[in-house]
Amino acid sequence: MKENARKRSSPSELGFIHQFIPASNRPDQITLLLLHGTGGNEQDLIPLGRELYPRAAILSPRGKVLESGMPRFFRRLAEGVFDIEDLKFRTHELADFVEKASKAYGFDLRYVVSIGYSNGANIASSLLLIRPEIISSAVLFRAMVPFMPEKVPNLTGKNIFIGAGQYDPIVPREQSETLFSFLEKAGANVVLHFQKNSGHELGYDEISAAKDWLSNLPKNSP
Ligand code: MLT
Repeated sequence: MKENARKRSSPSELGFIHQFIPASNRPDQITLLLLHGTGGNEQDLIPLGRELYPRAAILSPRGKVLESGMPRFFRRLAEGVFDIEDLKFRTHELADFVEKASKAYGFDLRYVVSIGYSNGANIASSLLLIRPEIISSAVLFRAMVPFMPEKVPNLTGKNIFIGAGQYDPIVPREQSETLFSFLEKAGANVVLHFQKNSGHELGYDEISAAKDWLSNLPKNSP
């Protein structure tokens, strides 16, 4: 069966417009949760997901908040200034969607690896803070500290790759370092990778670094 024939799109019954692509012949049962950046959609990160972890299942939702017509995963008041109440609400909504999708499509919730970029990486970080059971590993490209939770979550056993841009005008170096320290303090195995000569856009080296990192995760872990 051709891959295209196996793709399923569902507009709404699970609560999000999304794309699900089943795994093709993988002995492990990884599902990539792809979370796009501002102005993106459920198609955007599929090539990146394919590159990072070939043949894994893919669950790729479209953010439900519109900012001047551009999909996002939660509201912001200005660039880098988040509507925290909306962020928390949307984080739970997304986590509930992933749980429902795991039942509908039959993938194992214990092996969900989130790949997020920018706004998508920020809601992935928020999932780690308040619904950590949803993600076992994460690649966070250009993530910020979404908020400081009252309670430090227990992230023991979770593996997290943070991909930061050396000259990112949106995510200053201290943000990436604070996120790294916080996740590490919460017990996660965290790698912080700075992409040389890069801003908010992704570079080839970090994609290859993230791919190597993913392929070296313990097999029972992601
Ligand atoms: C955000 O709003 O999540 C960040 O400012 C990144 C962005 O989407 O531009």
